[in-house]
Amino acid sequence: MKVVIVKDKKELGQRAAEIVAAVMNSRSTPVLGLATGSTPLPLYERLIQLDKQNKIDFSTAVTFNLDEYVGLPPDHHQSYRYFMDKNLFDHVRINKKNTHVPDGMAKDPDAFCCAYEEMIEDVGGIDIQVLGIGSNGHIAFNEPGTSLGSRTHVTELTAQTIKDNSRFFARIEDVPTRAITMGIGTILEAEEIILLASGENKADAIAKALEGPITCMVPASALQLHPKVTFVITRDAASKLQHFGK
Ligand code: GLP
Repeated sequence: MKVVIVKDKKELGQRAAEIVAAVMNSRSTPVLGLATGSTPLPLYERLIQLDKQNKIDFSTAVTFNLDEYVGLPPDHHQSYRYFMDKNLFDHVRINKKNTHVPDGMAKDPDAFCCAYEEMIEDVGGIDIQVLGIGSNGHIAFNEPGTSLGSRTHVTELTAQTIKDNSRFFARIEDVPTRAITMGIGTILEAEEIILLASGENKADAIAKALEGPITCMVPASALQLHPKVTFVITRDAASKLQHFGK
């Protein structure tokens, strides 16, 4: 596993964008796995710049987002579809038909999850997956205790995640309690993975993910099983590492 420690969020965006751009420029139809949350925002800002400078080309890209809240329509200001449109897709030359975010309003969510897996398979799998990390070590919405072989599924959010994400909602009661998420097994099938983290509140989860045992209680620790992973993390997020970065 590769660990890149950066000084601030701007550098995090730049380093992560270099990795994503290299993959985009080496494929005729790049398939990108994308994440929401505040951490990838500097990456998306940088990708928008690179697109404007013609250094990358989104026109042939296909994207799959990791997750979506169950019960939020795409035009809800906290839905992940809305987030992706506002923070990336509306600003680059991408065909929106090629952008996929799980449907939080699906009538049959379980059937939707199977169809989502098939859509990923039909385009030949994900070339590069971008991940954030929850303070409890979750990736996408795979909470502690999720099987390391899990596929796209409906999940209940933990109290910790609801609390963490309540900062984006008017009241904690407004945070949805369920989500559709790619599984850990789905994520591990991406050809390459980058995990981004910034802030001291992620330091514990980062140390456990990189230096702890592989366990379903720390979903990000499953990345130790993947052959091509880069963690791009700020110094404060790296502050509890014993081995990496020393
Ligand atoms: C949510 C998302 C995760 C994300 C996490 C961290 O729970 N489902 O994909 O990694 O938040 O968010 P942030 O980057 O805002 O700390």
